[in-house]
Amino acid sequence: MGLFARLFGRSKRPVIARLKPSDADDVAFLHGDNFDRGWSVPECENLITDATCYGVGAQLPGEKTLCGFLLCRIAADEAEILSIAVARHARERGIAKAMLARGIAGLGVERVRSLFLEVEAENIPALKLYRHFGFEEVGRRPAYYRKADGSTAEAIVMRRNF
Ligand SMILES: CC(C)(COP(=O)(O)OP(=O)(O)OC[C@H]1O[C@@H](n2cnc3c(N)ncnc32)[C@H](O)[C@@H]1OP(=O)(O)O)[C@@H](O)C(=O)NCCC(=O)NCCS
Repeated sequence: MGLFARLFGRSKRPVIARLKPSDADDVAFLHGDNFDRGWSVPECENLITDATCYGVGAQLPGEKTLCGFLLCRIAADEAEILSIAVARHARERGIAKAMLARGIAGLGVERVRSLFLEVEAENIPALKLYRHFGFEEVGRRPAYYRKADGSTAEAIVMRRNF
């Protein structure tokens, strides 16, 4: 791809919208491409249609599939980020920030007062994303993640009050 195409392509703004059941294929693909434990299409469809879940997807103009998704679960006035991922070709252009901004606004409307998440301690892009939105560390879980190669990784628990 030439310089002009790269620059032009990167300037395209994604459309951010609530997830719908027909997005389950794209969410399952993105989740499987980014995490060791994949989610099946039916699992994704169940999450998207679950009344306690709040999800948004991102789509770039001209693309047929989602380039990112965010899924949260609400319990009373708290919520948890279950997963967020952006396709490799669409990273570092603010798509995760756009989805999280939309998610935080939507959860606020649902009367959520605190949003929690777990993130691998070495995941620098994700930590930068969460700190950008004012999430603060509230705990650590050593050896919380088990990776495909058998090694383990520490989780940081973060919270953002609304
Ligand atoms: C984490 C992830 C969702 C970020 O998506 P993204 O669309 O590229 O993020 P954005 O472009 O909105 O940038 C968010 C912040 O991360 C930073 N960032 C993004 N990619 C980065 C990288 N490779 N290295 C360093 N910082 C990076 C950005 O600079 C920005 O920080 P800033 O506000 O200080 O400028 C994406 O890397 C991803 O899908 N990773 C795999 C799945 C994952 O780890 N999910 C999180 C699980 S807790």
